[in-house]
Amino acid sequence: MSETPTNFSTPEFKRSKLSPLFQMAYNAIDGKHRWTLAGIIFKFLRRFEGGPGHTATVRELLARDYQVDVGAYSYGDCMIPGAFPPKVIVGRWVSVGPGVRVYNQNHPLDHLSMHPYFYEPNMGVVKENPMPRHTLVIGHDSWLGRNAIVTPGCKRIGVGAVIGAGAVVTKDVDDYAIVGGNPAKLIRYRFPEEVRKILLESRWWERSINEIRQFADEMIKPVDVERWNHPLLRHAVDQETAVSSS
Ligand SMILES: CC(C)(COP(=O)(O)OP(=O)(O)OC[C@H]1O[C@@H](n2cnc3c(N)ncnc32)[C@H](O)[C@@H]1OP(=O)(O)O)[C@@H](O)C(=O)NCCC(=O)NCCS
Repeated sequence: MSETPTNFSTPEFKRSKLSPLFQMAYNAIDGKHRWTLAGIIFKFLRRFEGGPGHTATVRELLARDYQVDVGAYSYGDCMIPGAFPPKVIVGRWVSVGPGVRVYNQNHPLDHLSMHPYFYEPNMGVVKENPMPRHTLVIGHDSWLGRNAIVTPGCKRIGVGAVIGAGAVVTKDVDDYAIVGGNPAKLIRYRFPEEVRKILLESRWWERSINEIRQFADEMIKPVDVERWNHPLLRHAVDQETAVSSS
């Protein structure tokens, strides 16, 4: 997935006339009340801007102040200010269950003390955090079940992957894998390998909502993996081929 920041000015994101007021209020809050009030302001913004899947302002603030990039149609705890750490990229169409938390940095296991006083600029003696965070990418159309925890051992959750409720994910998760448990292990893949390949090649999640809606009948029923002939994917693969050969 691209690490280029999402452009929130496309038609799939919405803005409300009241949003600048909420944003001004948000910008004015500082100090210890910020998280509590930001949570309330984000809630209003989500409501006024077409819900969590579409709000442009919440996404802009998350990107600016929390370094969390959330793609279109994605929703859930990734939209809560401060719930996800900096340098997390959430793809498009991602479902994040309640209580999901992700971590992309450990306390320094090899330092004399692991306390943030000795590595967090806003807590103690250092001007710059000496330990870089890695970027965690959460793939398009993945689903993270309730209370899943992703530890810094994981750098990528694959496209279409499922993280079972309560899982503790310590390693990367493959595209279209279902994992669960502590530590999370592969339960199975959602689709056979040839189907996964076509899905990935299609990049269907990049198609506009108008294109996708034409295939709504196909989107709402199980995929027939024996007779693999999904119209949206045929369309998406055709579009991809046209782009790559132009
Ligand atoms: C992971 C999940 C999608 C699997 O669904 P499924 O394919 O129908 O799974 P099954 O119930 O048939 O279980 C298959 C196996 O996985 C195991 N399993 C299922 N969910 C698991 C979980 N969360 N953690 C660990 N193991 C799990 C089952 O015990 C079973 O193991 P077995 O084959 O050894 O008996 C589902 O169990 C789950 O956790 N969903 C998340 C629900 C949720 O959080 N919703 C709220 C957020 S929107």
